[in-house]
Amino acid sequence: MYEQVSHSLLNDILIGLDPKVGCEDLKHFYIRLGANFYTIHSLFHQLYGDRRDFRVQLHKLVDVMAKQYVSRPPEFRQRDLAREKDHDWFLSQKLVGYALYCQEYAQSLNGMHDKLDYLQELGINLVHIMPILDGPKGRNDGGYAVRDFRKIDDKYGTLADLDTLSADMRSRDMLLVLDVVVNHTSDEHEWAIKAKKGNKKYQDYYYTYSDRKIPDLFEETMPEVFPETAPGNFTWNEDMQRWVMTVFNNFQWDLNYKNPAVFIEMLDIILFWANHGADVVRLDAVAFLWKKIGSASQNEREAHLILQLMKDCCQVTAPGTLFIAEAIVAPLEIIKYFGEDAVNAKECEIAYNATYMALLWEAVATKKTLLLNRGLRNLPTKLDRATWLNYVRCHDDIGLGFDDNDIRASGYDPQAHRRFMVDYYTGAYPGSTATGVAFGVNPKTGDARISGSLASLAGLETALLQNDEHAIDTSIRTIILLHSMIASFGGIPLLYYGDAIGTLNDNTYLDDENKHHDSRWVHRPTLDWNKAARRHEPGTVENRIFTAIQKMLAVRKQIPAFADLNNREIFETNNPHLFTFLRFTSRGIHSRVLVIANFDLSPQHLNLKELEAVNLFEHRETKDLYSGNTLSTKSGTLEIPPLGFYWLAL
Ligand code: GLC
Ligand code: GLC
Repeated sequence: MYEQVSHSLLNDILIGLDPKVGCEDLKHFYIRLGANFYTIHSLFHQLYGDRRDFRVQLHKLVDVMAKQYVSRPPEFRQRDLAREKDHDWFLSQKLVGYALYCQEYAQSLNGMHDKLDYLQELGINLVHIMPILDGPKGRNDGGYAVRDFRKIDDKYGTLADLDTLSADMRSRDMLLVLDVVVNHTSDEHEWAIKAKKGNKKYQDYYYTYSDRKIPDLFEETMPEVFPETAPGNFTWNEDMQRWVMTVFNNFQWDLNYKNPAVFIEMLDIILFWANHGADVVRLDAVAFLWKKIGSASQNEREAHLILQLMKDCCQVTAPGTLFIAEAIVAPLEIIKYFGEDAVNAKECEIAYNATYMALLWEAVATKKTLLLNRGLRNLPTKLDRATWLNYVRCHDDIGLGFDDNDIRASGYDPQAHRRFMVDYYTGAYPGSTATGVAFGVNPKTGDARISGSLASLAGLETALLQNDEHAIDTSIRTIILLHSMIASFGGIPLLYYGDAIGTLNDNTYLDDENKHHDSRWVHRPTLDWNKAARRHEPGTVENRIFTAIQKMLAVRKQIPAFADLNNREIFETNNPHLFTFLRFTSRGIHSRVLVIANFDLSPQHLNLKELEAVNLFEHRETKDLYSGNTLSTKSGTLEIPPLGFYWLAL
């Protein structure tokens, strides 16, 4: 529909654009603005339409978009055009990601150059460098409390170093992912400092209150994210003589998106990093962007409107840039961060598949796939032009965000089952060899989460200590099985640094006064490059894990059916230890691949007749694309080894 109001407003805005902006070649900017303006206007209106200065704010918004377009390096503008043409580019099975801390991995941004070879050797072409922006020493939540959104922390290097690194990465065809912490700032951020000094304008950037009236109302329904270390959601600030909302740690002040100035500032920052080489921007804690009394203040409708608006604005200035939603919330909520009531993703193109991650850990603990199958089956299909980040471990804890109904339907009691998970992974459960650490224990609700490195959770630490060859083998198989699951499921596998060489827990955080209370540090070690070097020594633990994952990633890239085009069908079989799904495509070789995984410690059998409905096994043999072995299907059953998996070409 032709929309007069929005059209005449756009005319006004364009006429009023800064003359400096006007002399640039803005053809593509204008085309994209024209195409997106109706939506931008209506979203901005839904959020801020009741303000008297609405039009002024909208002018400012477009001004920011135009200015950042003008400063966008020509190379990136070219890349934008190419990506617009090939708009499904990021759904390719060729992408493989890796998340790392720059300092722990390579000491500094400059140190990264030499260490890119290691990543390429493994098969990585998308690298998430965890937060590198300026933050206070110690009180920075691993970089997620930012003091200056445009300055790189001295300990990592400079903006020029980042530009050099991103150029090096481009020359190697590697994509760069950077964080923008959109939900909060450090209490030492310039805005917070001004707010503390009594500046009203900046107090309005946050949620601040002179007394407990409103904070108490919020508290009635807001859960606590870090109940042990940062109970409550508000902190009294002595300088300001006001309460300020601090959902995460007390030094992380929540930004108030009811104020359009906040939205515009944060968009400007996102575009700034897009212009400094971020192919993908990871938007932190997006579920928390809108707070509402009487609600949990998570997953609110307005949080989604904000993300849609951010996406539409970014689409105008830097359309080649993708967004990752970091929303570690309930399964049915996560999927909404792609957008709702749409065909194509309209919020973030990529989201952490926290559901799959937690379900995989559940399957490892129970050795059964009941909840895994059910949990996935009950998820709606995601939108097109949207993809998952499939991961086993990341820098955060493992939250047990299963759906209670799914737990019950799988025959377990929700509370008892979550308790079992925590006991299992902290090694308290009889027979468990896992050595994780509890995180976020909340005595009021009984909730808890789990920290620990992949290898330690998989029992490798215990196995090595006991020098138990069989147990070592079991944990290595678990690590490889889990990676095979993220490599084949559909989406971008995201490896966590250290996992491909079996890095164990690192307890040195216990001696650090800024870290000892936060067990997530147990899985954020300095990468041991001597250990990494052992990946080349046949027979070592490092070699066994590294070469298996390396091979798996190389095979993945050759299987077009592993691209993420909503081309997966999960089959439930009568064997409760197996997880079986079909990946398919109309393109290229291996157009149908059946993935079968056995989560049990004994060999399991799959009765092929159960899959007959889809007529999968026309031939008397089939090839496992991972191992290259040919398997006979003559007998009508397949045996899957303990903690083994197959990628069968049909
Ligand atoms: C995100 C980060 C996490 C951090 C939190 C608060 O969830 O992944 O590490 O603690 O945001 O910024
Ligand atoms: C909660 C938040 C998530 C954050 C995590 C850190 O799960 O939802 O955003 O990463 O806490 O532990």
